[in-house]
Amino acid sequence: MVLRKTVFRAVLLLTLLMNSALEIFAFQANERLSLVPVPQDVNLGQGTFSLKKDFAISLSGNPDKRLLDASTRFLRRLSNRTGLFLKEGYVTNENFKKRGVLSIEVSRPGKVELYEDESYTLKVSNSGIKIKAKTDLGAMHAMETLLQLIESAKNGYVVPVINITDAPRFPWRGLMIDAARHFQPIEVLKRNIDGMAAVKLNVLHLHLTDDQGFRVESRTYPQLQEKGSDGQYYTQRELKYIVQYAADRGIRVVPEFDVPGHATSWLAAFPQLGSVPGKKHYDMERNAGIMDPTLDPTNEKTYEVLSSVFKEMADVFPDEYFHIGGDENEGRHWDANPKIEAFKKKNGFKNNHELQNYFNKRILKFLEANGKKMIGWDEILQPGLPKSAVIQSWRGIDALVSSAQKGYQTFLSNGFYIDLLHPAIDHYKTDPLPDTVNLTDKQKELILGGEATMWAELVVPETIDSRIWPRTAVIAERLWSPASVKDEKDMYRRMEIISLQLEEHGLLHIVSRDQILRKLAQGKDTKALKVLNDISGPLQGYTRNPGGTMYQSYSPFLLWADAAVADSKIARDFEEAVTLFLNDGKPEAGEFIKVQLVKWSKNHQELKKLIDSSPMLHEIEGLSEQLKELSELGIDAINLIEGGMTPDLNWLNNAESTLKKARKQGGRTELMNVDTVEKIVRSLVKVNTGN
Ligand code: ACM
Repeated sequence: MVLRKTVFRAVLLLTLLMNSALEIFAFQANERLSLVPVPQDVNLGQGTFSLKKDFAISLSGNPDKRLLDASTRFLRRLSNRTGLFLKEGYVTNENFKKRGVLSIEVSRPGKVELYEDESYTLKVSNSGIKIKAKTDLGAMHAMETLLQLIESAKNGYVVPVINITDAPRFPWRGLMIDAARHFQPIEVLKRNIDGMAAVKLNVLHLHLTDDQGFRVESRTYPQLQEKGSDGQYYTQRELKYIVQYAADRGIRVVPEFDVPGHATSWLAAFPQLGSVPGKKHYDMERNAGIMDPTLDPTNEKTYEVLSSVFKEMADVFPDEYFHIGGDENEGRHWDANPKIEAFKKKNGFKNNHELQNYFNKRILKFLEANGKKMIGWDEILQPGLPKSAVIQSWRGIDALVSSAQKGYQTFLSNGFYIDLLHPAIDHYKTDPLPDTVNLTDKQKELILGGEATMWAELVVPETIDSRIWPRTAVIAERLWSPASVKDEKDMYRRMEIISLQLEEHGLLHIVSRDQILRKLAQGKDTKALKVLNDISGPLQGYTRNPGGTMYQSYSPFLLWADAAVADSKIARDFEEAVTLFLNDGKPEAGEFIKVQLVKWSKNHQELKKLIDSSPMLHEIEGLSEQLKELSELGIDAINLIEGGMTPDLNWLNNAESTLKKARKQGGRTELMNVDTVEKIVRSLVKVNTGN
């Protein structure tokens, strides 16, 4: 009864409120600017500079010639962002002689290497724009900032009058892409490099080999890619192209060849390098997880193959840093091999860590011979490891701190595991150098920054962008902006805006969701499907793929969970409205909540028809019903609150069981609004007990 009346009222309000409810209680802080990452110092002035079709660029100083192409790309994006048919189409050496409204002055060519100067200043007055930077890398960052400043005004597009002085907090701001578990073609890398440049990231770490694939052409040992890749690998030519493409955008490329564990794909080509005596055959791994096949560190042939491959790769990847993995070697095959056990005894190695340390030190020597510094995951941090090694901390921030205390350069990935599909705020709160950390200034300098890690067990080229973006933009902010920039609400506001801008680079993070839903609907209207998908989050952590064996690398990955994303905007808006309603009694928030609950409660009726006609959707029937029941509970609870009524015990018991049921996963996703509805219900209990 109560329910029906509210449904009626809320439906009436639907049209009125759908677009405006949130705006009524929108966050009113400085919403003018939407920069990601937030610059070091921003002074917003009065007035604007108007963008017109005579927009032209004048160059001065001594930049790398890369700046010419970067400026041309800038013009193209400006033109597409504003619809202006710019007169200037290409930036060439002629632009050193021209006068233009945008002047770019650069002192010297930048080197795409660690610690290069990336600072810039950007000054916009109502008559012109001036970018000044030590290196063209800084100037390219300034152009990204400028593109983010464009606003629409009554008579066209403008940039606000502003003075920005900017430089990164950390010199190592990376994204790791795992191309081993699922191969990611060149186009995926290109569009993601463009996305990285847009948010001022500067290191692309390519995880190129693992149990599930050896994804690089070796000319010395072509059997590596022939036996270890199903034909899906990068040629050296392609990789050189990618390295150049990235360098043109100020981005370094660091390759990873994960050894001695995670090495099944090497053993597919070289079973004799494995640690199981006499084993003649290994297949590429198709499941996920920590596998036993491990290179034999007591076999000289292992070092022969590794040193040749690494020498080849040192040529392909000019960066000074080279990643050897080193993670998750549980050493089971070592323990089971009497020859390896005897080797340990003879050399006085008390455990497998010491044996692996021996292996690492040998590798480090030949990397050094090729002018490279070795990086490894934090397992490589063992006594006696030379101080030239760099530690990538993934198991906890402790490894980062102790690496710095021991004098190693180090950077953080723990807390930046975007593959685990936690909401952006979790990553945003992760700081490589929190106030609480006890390090000297010299030790703090050893903390280079951090890297988002896109492990690819559960992603394919069609979906990888929606796992990387937009969350990686807020990680980029954490690594670039001052530590004091941490307003959660403003971060989410800006994340939504940068997300749309990132589509400029051909990133599929938004469209791939709709593509999947269209496929699932088989030509029918996807509206109801989208309503449910928008409030469904993929299972977090490692729970989506229990035991690493629910999915194989050849399983389908364009299903319900693959359309769902880690951050549900509607779940956030709903929670905000509920907080405003419960804490401040805002009636407009109450109306918004009801409109939304009604929409959700009625969705099942519509969706059920689609589910019945599409076998791929059967897995979400329960989830859809759960959303209906949960929403009806929410409507009832709001009604009781507004009516000043008290729920009886029976009602409360039913509420408990509805909430419990609502938490069940469906299609490897879960509803993202259960906690918020529970908050409404709990508030009734408080009222009920007179608190
Ligand atoms: C890792 O996630 N195994 C480095």
